Amino acid sequence: MTRLQQIHYSEDSFEAQSVISALTNDDVALISGVEQDIADDLIFSVCELLGLDESLELQAGFASIQGHRQTRNDFYMTVNRRRPYQFIPPHSEGSSFSKMQLAAFYCIENSTDGGETILWHVNANATDWNHLKEKKRKCKVIGTLTDADKHKIRTSYQLDVDSDRLLQDEEILTSQKIHENVTMYEVLSKPEKTHSIILDSYQYAYWDSISSLDHDCAIRFQEYCKRQSLLKVCSNNSFPMDNAAQRRLRNFGVNFDELFDHTVIHKLQPGQLIIFNNISWAHSAANWTPDSGVRNVVGAFA
Ligand SMILES: [Fe+2]
Repeated sequence: MTRLQQIHYSEDSFEAQSVISALTNDDVALISGVEQDIADDLIFSVCELLGLDESLELQAGFASIQGHRQTRNDFYMTVNRRRPYQFIPPHSEGSSFSKMQLAAFYCIENSTDGGETILWHVNANATDWNHLKEKKRKCKVIGTLTDADKHKIRTSYQLDVDSDRLLQDEEILTSQKIHENVTMYEVLSKPEKTHSIILDSYQYAYWDSISSLDHDCAIRFQEYCKRQSLLKVCSNNSFPMDNAAQRRLRNFGVNFDELFDHTVIHKLQPGQLIIFNNISWAHSAANWTPDSGVRNVVGAFA
């Protein structure tokens, strides 16, 4: 059974509600025949129906301010730059702080010999979460803070001083005094469920802040790509394949067979827009042989 619901776009008959139906069924929506400017209207109308339109605008705004991604049209941004032979192991965009609900990728060109999009549905009954960790910011506060201080800390450090207090069982990685009354810690914390607006339920998400710490995430993904004949290998092994190699801390032993219960493999074609729940589905991308073609895929998040 595939969980990829294919929808063909036509100006007269397309209804954003068909995408909502796929999403509330926890399926992936793949819309074909979408011109680049229509892709903007389309993602906006889907987000509007879900009450995520403000979040969509905010995310596109952040991306252009921070400059780590360039924006395309109104809401799409370039995906992270890839060095030769690099792949992107599974992750949900963002963290339990950002609680990003929806992800979409639009394909402008994908003429390489690889670059398949692979989506992974999180198994709600997995017990694997017990040994995974999320990298989070926590704090200790002495005395009181004004609302203005709290707001400033929230926007500058992505830290909620009221709810993000350091817990005893959290492993501290770094500490930094960010206010005379506040010390901020980077810690390894137990993953917690996040509310999915689309499904109206609490779910674990394989956030980037969980997956990118774990060497095993990249190892398991490389093995998976090899088994599926999706791995392109450099003849002299001179290029590291894992795009997040520098952020990985240790082996947390993730087991994809337990963590995920369904995968969708799809090589996006020009004019295709793929939309899915960013909490219940993690995304990844296979690598390709350098100079085999161009992969120009842009993403939108809300
Ligand atoms: Fe991503």
